[in-house]
Amino acid sequence: WHVAVLMGGWSAEREVSLMSGGGVADALESRGHKVTRIDMDRDVALRLAEAKPDVVFNALHGVPGEDGTVQGLLDLMGLKYTHSGLVTSVIAIDKELTKQALVPHGIPMPTGTMVDSESLFSIDPLPRPYVLKPVNEGSSVGVAIVKDDSNYGNPIARDAVGPWQEFDRLLAEPFIKGRELTVAVLGDQALAVTELRVKSGFYDYDAKYTEGLTEHVCPADVPADVARRMKDLALQSHRLLGCKGASRSDFRWDDEHGLAGIYLLEVNTQPGMTPLSLVPEQGRAVGMDYAELVERLVGEALL
Ligand code: DAL
Ligand code: MG
Repeated sequence: WHVAVLMGGWSAEREVSLMSGGGVADALESRGHKVTRIDMDRDVALRLAEAKPDVVFNALHGVPGEDGTVQGLLDLMGLKYTHSGLVTSVIAIDKELTKQALVPHGIPMPTGTMVDSESLFSIDPLPRPYVLKPVNEGSSVGVAIVKDDSNYGNPIARDAVGPWQEFDRLLAEPFIKGRELTVAVLGDQALAVTELRVKSGFYDYDAKYTEGLTEHVCPADVPADVARRMKDLALQSHRLLGCKGASRSDFRWDDEHGLAGIYLLEVNTQPGMTPLSLVPEQGRAVGMDYAELVERLVGEALL
């Protein structure tokens, strides 16, 4: 195959995407495929037209790349590509639209509220503690937990408490105490449940990408019914949104409340493919090495 690996771009997750794309390209080359590496810029359509690949591996994260823009371009160009299509991407990149799509089907998600930037810093949108997050970022970029002692209401403190003024649309969600877990779905199979045990603070950008800051426990040490329910929810969400290839559903579990304490936070349609990433790790847990996983995603895209 001739595979164009799209990576980089100009989202807040550019560096993560370069790591994902580099890993994917190396793996495809090691399997004897021809690879064109494309660090996405505004000329991406020209570069793809020149390369004439059989298929595009989309290793982009964030906006643009995970949000339907690139998917729409590839559709127009008649190019096949890995992962989800245009409509799925538009919905899944937006945590509020995702809730509107999934909650009516019985998927448990925290009841949040969009925060109007005018009122930001003047009034708490929810009782504390709560989580404030940009509605369409990844890798925890811009996420903050507003605790009882945060200076949120004090305008003088705004620089000290968060970078939220950089983001157009913010979502506030109740903070769910307990544990952080994730489930990858590949094709029609939920692979495994991984627990992320963070050494300190929460599972933020540094904890995600600095080796040693987070312990990954896979399979997670949770009761069998909790693991089964999370896998069912991940698979159901993947199908309801129409995801293709791989997705990864992130959960919080309030372990004092058993099955009723499970909340889906979001579905990632362009989950990380770096060496520390969770989908490759869960692939290994079911006996698929990194290169096999990459080839399988490309193979599905070519169908
Ligand atoms: N947004 C990052 C790449 C992830 O979901 O893994
Ligand atoms: Mg995400």
